Amino acid sequence: QGDVFTFDPGFTSTAACESAITYIDGDVGELWYRGYPIEQLAQKSHYLEVCYLLLNGELPSADQMEKFEWLITHHTMVHEQLHYFFRGFRRDSHPMATLVGVVGAMSAFYHDSLDINDPHHREVASIRLIAKLPTLAAMAYKYSLGQPFVYPKNDLDYASNFLHMCFSVPAEPYHTDPALARAMDRIFTLHADHEQNASTSTVRLAGSSGANPFACIAAGIACLWGPAHGGANQAALEMLQEIGTVDRIPEYIRRAKDKDDPFRLMGFGHRVYKNFDPRAKIMKESADEVLDLLGIENNPTLQVAKELERIALEDEYFVSKKLYPNVDFYSGIILSAMGFPTSMFTPIFALSRTVGWISQWKEMLGDPDSKIGRPRQLYIGSDRRDYLDVAKR
Ligand code: SDX
Repeated sequence: QGDVFTFDPGFTSTAACESAITYIDGDVGELWYRGYPIEQLAQKSHYLEVCYLLLNGELPSADQMEKFEWLITHHTMVHEQLHYFFRGFRRDSHPMATLVGVVGAMSAFYHDSLDINDPHHREVASIRLIAKLPTLAAMAYKYSLGQPFVYPKNDLDYASNFLHMCFSVPAEPYHTDPALARAMDRIFTLHADHEQNASTSTVRLAGSSGANPFACIAAGIACLWGPAHGGANQAALEMLQEIGTVDRIPEYIRRAKDKDDPFRLMGFGHRVYKNFDPRAKIMKESADEVLDLLGIENNPTLQVAKELERIALEDEYFVSKKLYPNVDFYSGIILSAMGFPTSMFTPIFALSRTVGWISQWKEMLGDPDSKIGRPRQLYIGSDRRDYLDVAKR
C-alpha cells in the first residue's frame, strides 16, 4: 500500500511518520480510512461510526456504537464558565479566532485531571474533544450574531444537534430536515482525516512535546485557518461569488495562469492529489442534492463552479499541472445553501477534522518509541564571522 516512510534512526523527527489511519494515493485519487474507501463510508456509514473507526481501527459492533454514541452525546455540553470566555472577544471576531482561543482554554477546564501517559485518559480527552467541538463552533457562530448560546439536545443526532445549536433561537426552535442532517453528516465524514496534512502534522508536532491534547488541537485549528489549507473553502466560495457569472470565468482562468498575478483558483490543486480529489466528486453530487432539497434551482454560484471546473479541466495549463478541484471547491456551496456565512466554513472543517487530529495524536502517543519532533534544516546563512564594532560597520 504505497511507501511507508522510514528514516535513519539517528534522525528523529515527526516530519515523516508511520501511520495506520488514512491512506491516500494522489495519482489515482484514492482515500481510505482504516482501509475503507471514502466513497463507501460517505454512502453507507455516518460520522460518529467513522469517528469510532478512526479512533479504534475497526468498525464498531451495534453495542459498541450504542455505547460510543451515548458517551459523545453526554459530553456535548461545555463548562458554563467557558460561556464567559467568549465575552472577551469582539462580536465581529472571525469564528476561527474565537475557536482557537476557546479550544486552547479547554486545557484549563478539562486537562488538570488527565494524564496523557494513561491510555484511558487519552480516550477521555478524545471523547470530550469530539463531543464539544460542535458546541463550541456553534457558540462562536451565535456569539458573532449577538444571539444567545443554544444548548445541545441529547435526543438529536450529532449533525442535527450542530444545526440546532447554530440555527435555533429561544423564540423558535430549528427543526432539521433529516436529508439536510445527512448532508451535514456527510460533510463531517469527508473532512474527518487526511493523512499528514499541514494541520495534522502541527498537532503531531505539538503532541510530541507532551503538550496536552486541547492545546494540540488548538494548534491544529490555527494551522487549518490558512487560505492554502482549510481556509480555502471560505476563499473558494468568495471567489465563485466574485466571478458571479460564467462569462467572467475566462478572466479568472487567465489570472490563475499568470505567474505575476498572486491569484490562484481557490479550491483547486493539492499537495498530494494529482488526480481528482475523491471527496470533491462526492461533494459535487451532494451539492446537487442539497440545492434540489432546498428548492434552490439554478444556483448561479453552482453554475459558475461547474462551468469553471469544465473549462479548467480542458485547459492545457491545469491539465499539465494536474490541478483538479479539491475538497474545498464545492463544500462552500452546500454550507452557504444551508444558511452558513462563509466565516463558518473553516470552523465546520475544524470540528470535522478534530477526530482525525486526535486519532493521529493517540496513535503517536501510543507508540513507545515516539520522540519529540525535531524537523531539521539546511543552513544557507553566513559562514562563521567575528563581531564588528558599530564604528566599523
Ligand atoms: C486542503 O494536504 C491536505 O491533505 C490538505 C487537505 C486536507 O484534507 O487536509 O486536503 C485540505 O488544504 C486542500 C487544499 C485547499 N487549498 C486550496 O484550494 C488553495 C488553492 N490551491 C493552491 O494554493 C495549491 O494548489 C495548494 C496549496 C493546495 C498546493 O500548492 P502547491 O504545492 O504549490 O501545488 P502544486 O505543487 O500542486 O502546484 C503545481 C503548480 C505550481 O505552479 P509551478 O510552480 O509548477 O509553475 O500549479 C500551480 C502552482 O503555482 N498551482 C495553481 C493552483 N494550485 C497550484 N495555479 C493556479 N491555481 C491553483 N489553485
